Amino acid sequence: MSDFSDTNWADSEFAREYLDNAEAYVPFRQEMHKVLGLYYRNFLLGEAPKSVLDLGCGDGILSLIVAGLDENASITLVDGSQEMLDRAAERLGPQGNFTCLRSSFQELAKNDPLEGSFDLVMSSLAIHHLNREDKTSLYKYVFSCLKPGGHFINIDVVLAPTDELENWYMQVWEEWIVRRKAEGKTDRDFTDIVRRYHENPDNVPDTLSFQLKALEETGYAHVDCFYKHGVFVIFGGRKGSGDR
Ligand SMILES: C[S@@+](CC[C@H](N)C(=O)[O-])C[C@H]1O[C@@H](n2cnc3c(N)ncnc32)[C@H](O)[C@@H]1O
Repeated sequence: MSDFSDTNWADSEFAREYLDNAEAYVPFRQEMHKVLGLYYRNFLLGEAPKSVLDLGCGDGILSLIVAGLDENASITLVDGSQEMLDRAAERLGPQGNFTCLRSSFQELAKNDPLEGSFDLVMSSLAIHHLNREDKTSLYKYVFSCLKPGGHFINIDVVLAPTDELENWYMQVWEEWIVRRKAEGKTDRDFTDIVRRYHENPDNVPDTLSFQLKALEETGYAHVDCFYKHGVFVIFGGRKGSGDR
């Protein structure tokens, strides 16, 4: 089991750099968020209040999207970084219907500190920081905290199944960053991020097929990939309505 405190995310400056610049180097970030919104509208939005868990919330971007769509949603935000949780709480505001819990995913899966169960567990660009074993444990834990019929949706980076594809996906990513700068969306050159992504030992993505299989083997139904652009994906599944 790896430890959150050994990762770059425990370093405030690293975390701040991500929050300040993610829009400039995460390709089609807003489009991915739109897909989450479409999913929520189609499968979750309704009269009954929904309980939602945001894993690795960062500054609460996914929670803000859900809160904006559904004022009845109650949201639990989890992150290993207190600084991230503070930023998220600030953005959601004093009237927000949310609670924050500082915990690593590893502690979460081991100690089960969450009370209640969820209609939706969502995560974005966080679970690829777990090794294979910890990912599998987390997927099992998420399954155990979903209500029957509940949903899991993960926006993340994955490993390509071959080196050839991985190289092409990195090229596509770099081209997106270059285009973003050419369009005047940022002044800075972030192309280095693509190299740093591979060098950073905190990034341990697994293939999409491994993760879809891990979800199916855990018992999730309706497992699918809902979006893909290079290594950036959205995938998930549901707990069957008869599953406990
Ligand atoms: C790339 S940021 C993503 C933040 C946000 N979800 C977004 O999409 O902007 C990754 C987040 O996951 C958190 N994180 C990384 N590894 C974690 C772990 N093992 N346990 C809990 N949180 C973790 C970091 O503190 C950080 O807030």
